[in-house]
Amino acid sequence: MTLRTPICDLFGIELPIFAAGMGGVTMAPLAGAVSAAGGLGVIGATFCTPDELRAEIRAVRRITDRPFGVDLLVPGDIPPDVGARAVPPFPEFLADLLPEVAGLAGAPPPPLTLELAKAQLAVTLEEKVPLLVSALGTPPWLIDQCHRAGTRVMSIVGNVRQARRMEELGVDAVIAQGMEAGGHVGNVTTMVLVPAVVDAVRIPVLAAGGIVDGRGVAAGLVLGAQGAWIGTRFIATVEATAHENHKRRILEVDEEGTVVSRSYTGKPSRVLRNTFTDRWKGRDAELLPMPWQRIRVESLVAPAKAAGRVDIANFPTGQGAGAIRDMPTAADLVRRLVREAEAALCR
Ligand SMILES: Cc1cc2nc3c(=O)[nH]c(=O)nc-3n(C[C@H](O)[C@H](O)[C@H](O)COP(=O)(O)O)c2cc1C
Repeated sequence: MTLRTPICDLFGIELPIFAAGMGGVTMAPLAGAVSAAGGLGVIGATFCTPDELRAEIRAVRRITDRPFGVDLLVPGDIPPDVGARAVPPFPEFLADLLPEVAGLAGAPPPPLTLELAKAQLAVTLEEKVPLLVSALGTPPWLIDQCHRAGTRVMSIVGNVRQARRMEELGVDAVIAQGMEAGGHVGNVTTMVLVPAVVDAVRIPVLAAGGIVDGRGVAAGLVLGAQGAWIGTRFIATVEATAHENHKRRILEVDEEGTVVSRSYTGKPSRVLRNTFTDRWKGRDAELLPMPWQRIRVESLVAPAKAAGRVDIANFPTGQGAGAIRDMPTAADLVRRLVREAEAALCR
């Protein structure tokens, strides 16, 4: 059998395997390798300046002439003057951790503003990238601009209501992502969400959240999805630009090694469980909304992240990490996922 579904024709690819856009992780080497292997790699552009994004897009094109995508985080509720406002006070109960990062370098990522997202989108469209993916909301103006430029749009959704809304707005496909996933998540599991979204919309659906092997890809297809959107599994590959400590930690943790916490970004996000997330336990009332929570802990988290301090910093990671035990090349992983999925479906 061959693992081919209608979404392969929609995007002009061979295999329905998508390497999820992960900020700082799915950059040109990984996105390009996955597309070259017949899947579709998506640059995680969240933290790129417009110039950096243009360089990443061109670097993918030096690796392959096959289709690829750009993933943007378009914040709907962030004030444009966020950089000019006062930084909220650093939490006292974390003060003893600050000496641990003293002297470490680590510039904070640029503030996630609508202005930045618009500039990233402009570059994506100028460069004629075939696919744009957006999470945390996909505004109508973005869909219109993409379609006018000939770029297809996919949106990540965490419930049926969002999926219906995205279909109404005209996106080309939705990614139904369960709460097993790494990064920002909703409340519904992949097993429940995928068939519910498949039943609710007519556009193609990808399954996401907790897919780390061919059995997971096959399960998504059996639930009615046309392919798999895979993040965490691709962090533990040779080409991923994740910190080595993050890659290593993924090989070590079990299925309970992650936690959903608002302590880094202000929105629920699945990350490696560590000292930082533990310290915030029982302190929900003290959390600030996005973007203030991140800005407030930046002096600790930014240097810790740059140094690969998985015990302190924000390392988005899905529950599926518990089943990841090796670090293949991206092309080997794509081939393995397909081989395993075909075998599972034949059984
Ligand atoms: C390290 C990491 C970084 C991520 N960064 C982003 C991001 O910048 N933008 C985004 O839309 N999703 C981001 N995500 C979510 C992924 O795109 C994807 O939806 C998710 O990883 C799928 O679930 P899985 O990790 O169980 O495969 C990130 C996920 C991880 C693990």
